[in-house]
Amino acid sequence: MNLKERAERFPGDEHKAGEEHYRAYIDAPDNYDLMAAMQFNLMTGLGLRQYHRLLDIGCGSLRAGRLFIPYLLPGRYFGIEPNQWLIDQAIEHEVGRDLIRIKTPQFSNSSDFDLTSFGVMFDFIIAQSVFTHAPPRPIALCLSKAREVMTKESIFVSNWAEDDTSYDGDEWVYPDFVKYAASRIDEFMSDAGLVARRLNWTKPPSGQSWFVITRQDFPNIEKLTDPFASSRELVKTEEKLKFCEEQLDRLYWVLRRVTGSGRKDERRVPRDAPASPPDPGQEV
Ligand SMILES: C[S@@+](CC[C@H](N)C(=O)[O-])C[C@H]1O[C@@H](n2cnc3c(N)ncnc32)[C@H](O)[C@@H]1O
Repeated sequence: MNLKERAERFPGDEHKAGEEHYRAYIDAPDNYDLMAAMQFNLMTGLGLRQYHRLLDIGCGSLRAGRLFIPYLLPGRYFGIEPNQWLIDQAIEHEVGRDLIRIKTPQFSNSSDFDLTSFGVMFDFIIAQSVFTHAPPRPIALCLSKAREVMTKESIFVSNWAEDDTSYDGDEWVYPDFVKYAASRIDEFMSDAGLVARRLNWTKPPSGQSWFVITRQDFPNIEKLTDPFASSRELVKTEEKLKFCEEQLDRLYWVLRRVTGSGRKDERRVPRDAPASPPDPGQEV
């Protein structure tokens, strides 16, 4: 076996999406790493910290849970998954019993979105690739139950396959997708007392759009739609400050040269002060 072949082998790689293997049952198995990283990066980009409580609806074989569980403090990860065998296999092959003992994640096998059964309110909720397979009735139920465990600052992330028309059947569809129009998504939200906005975030290989969902009284949902916008703003501000500092240094040297006054020890010597004053004719 050459290096490339060896690198391409991973658990479940002989299975197609939907087949009876813990990695394949939830998606094409070669997305197992990618979709874990995408969920983890998105939630931490939105502000998930170790002390938050996270609910993973349809947590499957802990594809994302195997990153969230070590990150969060003990007792902060909660998963809902009707197929207990997926959780068992994930613990056996991906997470290990030691981590379960140390981090004490909690699981429920509820299939009717009994999200209050954990008895806590959640700071963050994720339902990845759940509404993309679900008919309207369970979606509406899930959203109304989610509303009961959300504070006005909770952040709920989910993805949806969008189209101009909306699925109105009664069956879960898997591994294919069901699609909903933007207007139908808005209707689900307002029925549940929630609002949703499309997120500016990398789409999964199958192309669903990410949405952030909050209560209607959330302080400012628009701020969330670009998870890394605030860190980009911070970088821009730092660049502007650095530019101003450089201009002030140059101005200082120009004034000193022109007026012949001012003692160097009258002000703090800048970190990167030039060894000799710049040419006063230079544009400032
Ligand atoms: C496509 S998989 C996604 C799994 C996981 N979110 C991930 O990204 O790896 C959908 C999951 O939803 C679970 N599921 C189906 N019906 C559910 C229900 N009523 N409540 C919670 N989860 C459900 C399935 O068993 C499956 O594990």
